[in-house]
Amino acid sequence: MTHPEEAGRQLASVARLLMLLAAALGLVVVVVVTQLYWPAHPAAPVAVADEATEGPPPPGSYHRPAFAAPDPALIPRTATGREIRYGRELVAHTARYLGPNGLVGAYTNGLNCQNCHLQAGTQGFANNYLAVAATYPKLRARSGTVEGIEKRVADCMERSLNGRAVPDNSREMRAIVAYIKWLGQDIPKGRKVHGTGFMKLPYLDRAADPQIGRAVFAAKCQSCHGPGGQGKKMADGREYQYPPLWGPDSYNDGAGLFRVSNFAKYVKAAMPYGATFDHPQLTNKQAWDVAAFVNSQPRPHLPTPKDWPDIRKKPVDHPFGPYADAFSERQHKFGPYQPIEDAHPQPAKAN
Ligand code: HEC
Ligand code: HEC
Repeated sequence: MTHPEEAGRQLASVARLLMLLAAALGLVVVVVVTQLYWPAHPAAPVAVADEATEGPPPPGSYHRPAFAAPDPALIPRTATGREIRYGRELVAHTARYLGPNGLVGAYTNGLNCQNCHLQAGTQGFANNYLAVAATYPKLRARSGTVEGIEKRVADCMERSLNGRAVPDNSREMRAIVAYIKWLGQDIPKGRKVHGTGFMKLPYLDRAADPQIGRAVFAAKCQSCHGPGGQGKKMADGREYQYPPLWGPDSYNDGAGLFRVSNFAKYVKAAMPYGATFDHPQLTNKQAWDVAAFVNSQPRPHLPTPKDWPDIRKKPVDHPFGPYADAFSERQHKFGPYQPIEDAHPQPAKAN
């Protein structure tokens, strides 16, 4: 028989145990709930270097730090967070989902968005997405219409990825847009942020030269992109380790990179792979000349009869007429651009 005092003590310790268990359970519930509904860390402020308040960077100097993109570890652990993460995955590995053998469907040519929008659209002056949420919807002169983010993404799918766009209401489009909005969440509407878009590159006082560019390509690009510019696939056969620069699997002639100025500015800040805007590896001349060479090679054609409804708004280096001036298509494509800009009734800078 147990002594009544003994029994009392046993009862008390059972009660203590139960209370401890309840407390532990409570703790577990709190942790689970906060992980599910709140981000892993409070959103860190993004360091934004603002062109408007700091003035343009001094000529030739890009040593000011660009804005910092938010850390992907801060993507919230919510349903929206899952969508944002899927968007990031689609940007980084587009071909796996949307390429010729894509898991979702065959929409695009095998390039990844990230091939051109480096580090999932976050690298400074490598075509990043930070300003998109703050600047769209916007009136674009190329289409003459107000475009939302979906239309801009669809444009790159049809042109840069030479394919067809996923529908606006598809899971994939919604995810990409959610990711782009998340990246730009802390950038005030309408603000220009140092490091977005492309870096400025002064015009040459001569035409960009495809023949000189061929030698630049052989010396600086061919080791990765291949002697025929065809690139190199990864072992899985879905994505490129080194994306093609021309030929049937490259961007078409309606794409942004087909403009010599865009290509030159991109490679100045991003190529050979490892280059950055503050540690470029090409001289300005090399950037312009290699752009002229690559954009003289064969690539898919996209008829774009509706582009530039107001021809006076065409950028100086738009390679297809008609133009609001008397300069040839060749000069528009390769330069020299300054005389065109000077003669223009409206400022249509390539910069
Ligand atoms: C072959 C290179 C290339 C690929 C691949 C590419 N893009 Fe682009 N993208 C560009 C260039 C170049 C521009 C800027 C063009 C211009 O302003 O004329 C651009 C612009 C954009 C913009 C607007 C940026 C801004 O600040 O206004 C968005 C958004 C965008 N791309 C999304 C995407 C998405 C999403 C994908 C993948 C589905 C993609 N792009 C694939 C080259 C590419
Ligand atoms: C060390 C290897 C390497 C070298 C050298 C190199 N690239 Fe690239 N390039 C890459 C990689 C890798 C990518 C894709 C980046 C990514 O997906 O993150 C790329 C992407 C590109 C893109 C955008 C995607 C496309 O296919 O249109 C262009 C344009 C480009 N490179 C041009 C050049 C030019 C021009 C040179 C020479 C001046 C050059 N690259 C030298 C590795 C290289």
